[in-house]
Amino acid sequence: MGYYTNKVIWITGASSGIGEALALALAAQGARLVLSSRRADELARVQKACTNPNNVKIVTVDLLDTVVLGAKTSEALAVFGHIDIMVHNGGISQRGLVAETSMQVQRKVMEVDYFSYVELTNHLLPHFMQRGGGHFVVISSVMGKIGTPMRSAYAAAKHALHGFFDCLRAEVFNKNILVTVITPGYIRTNVTMNALKGDGTPVAELGHNIANGLPAGKAAVQILKAVAAGKFEAYVGKNSTEKLALLVNRIAPNLLQKIVRKQVPK
Ligand SMILES: NC(=O)c1ccc[n+]([C@@H]2O[C@H](COP(=O)([O-])OP(=O)(O)OC[C@H]3O[C@@H](n4cnc5c(N)ncnc54)[C@H](OP(=O)(O)O)[C@@H]3O)[C@@H](O)[C@H]2O)c1
Repeated sequence: MGYYTNKVIWITGASSGIGEALALALAAQGARLVLSSRRADELARVQKACTNPNNVKIVTVDLLDTVVLGAKTSEALAVFGHIDIMVHNGGISQRGLVAETSMQVQRKVMEVDYFSYVELTNHLLPHFMQRGGGHFVVISSVMGKIGTPMRSAYAAAKHALHGFFDCLRAEVFNKNILVTVITPGYIRTNVTMNALKGDGTPVAELGHNIANGLPAGKAAVQILKAVAAGKFEAYVGKNSTEKLALLVNRIAPNLLQKIVRKQVPK
């Protein structure tokens, strides 16, 4: 029996990329899954591809629709009667200079990538408390630890996740509730296709770094290993430059600033 066997796991952003890869890997390890995102047809495709699709159920949710997130949590809880692990993964990225990024985009990225995670956590936490345990898994980003040009909204939302979930981890540490924050580097998914430009339109291109990123299936293996080990935080990726950037930011932040400012488009 592995860490995930028979566990009930709710994954947001399960219709694509990292969430989809996590669903496939977890289903193969005998977990029971609740898959969420906006697109029911894509979730059904993932469900069909899972080992034992009968153990995989769908609850559609738009993370921007804050009014329904309480009801969606109840719906997800009702599927198998409880939840052991919540994987906060659904999200959008952003590409644009601060000077060119509308407030609408700044707020939208914060709503989807930060506030929806806080809201779902608030709704699920009483259940974890009552059961005497649970595990929150949060897909942040290397951008949750450093800030580079063209990513202000995204980096802000991801940094906020670290603040919130570090506090929560300390508050619930003695209640058998774990919090693992994952900071992926470049992973090959649709993330840049869906990333918002300053005017709110999607980038609609894959981008060189993402195209050469770690395949999502391999990222899922690394994520699940870190979660099963109960890590507080873990980098996931294949790029030694990303790891180096995290280290330089810790020990010589001024040097990192000198390096990242070269990335401002001419
Ligand atoms: N790929 C990378 O290099 C990378 C690096 C660091 C962190 N991450 C993080 O990894 C997570 C997953 O991204 P990905 O790379 O797998 O990208 P992706 O392939 O674009 O997947 C994003 C997922 O989020 C869902 N989503 C987006 N907006 C939503 C909304 N308003 N309501 C509900 N679901 C929504 C999408 O589903 P629907 O469209 O069906 O709603 C989709 O399932 C994100 O949090 C991202 O920031 C990715």
